Amino acid sequence: MARARSRGHAWIATGLLISSLFGPAADVRTAESGDGLPEGNGKQILTTFCIICHESTEITKFRGYYDRRQWRDVVVTMKEYGAPLNAEQIEALADYLEQSLGKPKTPG
Ligand code: HEC
Repeated sequence: MARARSRGHAWIATGLLISSLFGPAADVRTAESGDGLPEGNGKQILTTFCIICHESTEITKFRGYYDRRQWRDVVVTMKEYGAPLNAEQIEALADYLEQSLGKPKTPG
């Protein structure tokens, strides 16, 4: 049966492809309880690229401070610093960071 392929999932494949380049030892289990990062598609990207230069606590300590636009700015800045992210991964991370560490939305 022909299931419609959902757009926006290409980056997942990209992330998996890239992480597979790092080998099956790219184990993210340590991040599960220690860093308080919820499981999510963006976590794969984060635990692959964002911990190259610093620990994930450098990121999680800003939990609740930034909205999506600000998180995206952070990610873009990190790309400028040298994080090897493509455009899709930037958007995926912005979504993930908003959902997992984003500023609580105030009602009204
Ligand atoms: C190429 C190295 C590098 C990579 C890869 C990298 N960072 Fe950074 N990051 C830095 C440096 C250097 C600093 C400290 C300098 C500063 O505070 O501006 C930093 C600081 C931060 C901070 C603290 C900013 C602040 O205001 O103090 C956050 C949040 C952050 N990084 C998030 C990320 C995220 C999310 C990723 C993955 C997309 C990432 N980083 C990947 C180099 C990197």
